[in-house]
Amino acid sequence: MTIRDHAVAGHDAAARVRHLARATLAAQLARRLDTESVRVTEFSAWGTGVRRLLAAQRPEVTEPYLLVSLGTGTSVLLAQGMGVSRVGGTALGGGTLMGLGGLLLGGASFEDILRLAARGDRVHLLGRDREELEKCAADLQARMSPPATVGFTLCDLERPETFAPAVAAADAALGGFDTAVITAGLFAPQARLQADREFTRRLLTVNFAHTVLLCEHLREYLLARRGGTLCVFSSVAGERGRKPVVLYGASKAGLSAYLEALDHTFRAAGLRTICVKPGFVRTSMTAGLPEPPFAADPDQVATTVVRAIDRGTPVVYAPPIWGLVMLVIRLLPRAVMRRIGF
Ligand SMILES: NC(=O)c1ccc[n+]([C@@H]2O[C@H](COP(=O)([O-])OP(=O)(O)OC[C@H]3O[C@@H](n4cnc5c(N)ncnc54)[C@H](OP(=O)(O)O)[C@@H]3O)[C@@H](O)[C@H]2O)c1
Repeated sequence: MTIRDHAVAGHDAAARVRHLARATLAAQLARRLDTESVRVTEFSAWGTGVRRLLAAQRPEVTEPYLLVSLGTGTSVLLAQGMGVSRVGGTALGGGTLMGLGGLLLGGASFEDILRLAARGDRVHLLGRDREELEKCAADLQARMSPPATVGFTLCDLERPETFAPAVAAADAALGGFDTAVITAGLFAPQARLQADREFTRRLLTVNFAHTVLLCEHLREYLLARRGGTLCVFSSVAGERGRKPVVLYGASKAGLSAYLEALDHTFRAAGLRTICVKPGFVRTSMTAGLPEPPFAADPDQVATTVVRAIDRGTPVVYAPPIWGLVMLVIRLLPRAVMRRIGF
């Protein structure tokens, strides 16, 4: 008899003992309760229970559906009509989910994992154009699941006096918030900026000075709540001094440097700063411009940014390929940068 046979024989014996114990317990229970006992298999008990729960709580759900039981193991059942049949399963169960969830999500509880799965983050919009905000809020509201009201407050990056009231309004509307995302910014091609000193002043102010001031309001707010996430859109244009983006690039370089230092200074206190560096994205900002390689749609960028917010990634290139491109650009000698038009 090999060691492996021992293990199988041992397993069979243990299974027989468990079966006997169950049968004895069932017989004893029937005797003590002095009533007729009915034997129901585990799977059909689950099916009946879930059918009743669904009828009471989610009557709109119609069969067939999958019923997943996550216990010490995981079973997947197909519920059809009054019957259920097992379609698959795994020995990995709740313990594995909690272990992986804890590692991936920083000690999240089972409820946290369910909450994140359902997502349904609540949102309050800030912006300078009431009509645009109304449209955006209505659009977001229609997509929210579970349904939630999306409010908005006027906040103009050219008017720093609007910052504190806007943060307070968002706080009141959401009953406190833990994440702020700043996407606003101005852009114009280098030739227009060189010819228009007033627009250059506005762009430098909005993209750098006043975005930093708004970040300072949010830093104070989030730290007072013992931490949170501040996610701000900078640009790959700020990575090196480049001929086509002398002024716009400078505003974003300043912003990126500020965000990096903010992250170094306050991460230990609970403030996670995320600097987003998009490449070329097809939005109203770039409408009519020639498309470079790796041009992306806003949805792609949004997916990358949401993942970075969840993970607390300090610098995120969107789409990620720009991380590689910029690695090369950062390594190029100054003399090469001077010669190329990039
Ligand atoms: N698109 C790209 O290729 C690209 C690449 C790299 C980085 N980025 C950066 O990504 C961010 C988002 O850009 P986007 O492509 O979505 O640009 P966009 O479509 O032009 O949107 C820019 C937003 O900024 C808002 N804004 C401008 N000035 C403002 C002010 N004074 N106060 C409040 N809001 C103001 C605009 O609001 P209104 O609707 O009121 O005008 C608009 O909603 C920007 O920071 C941009 O620099 C974009």
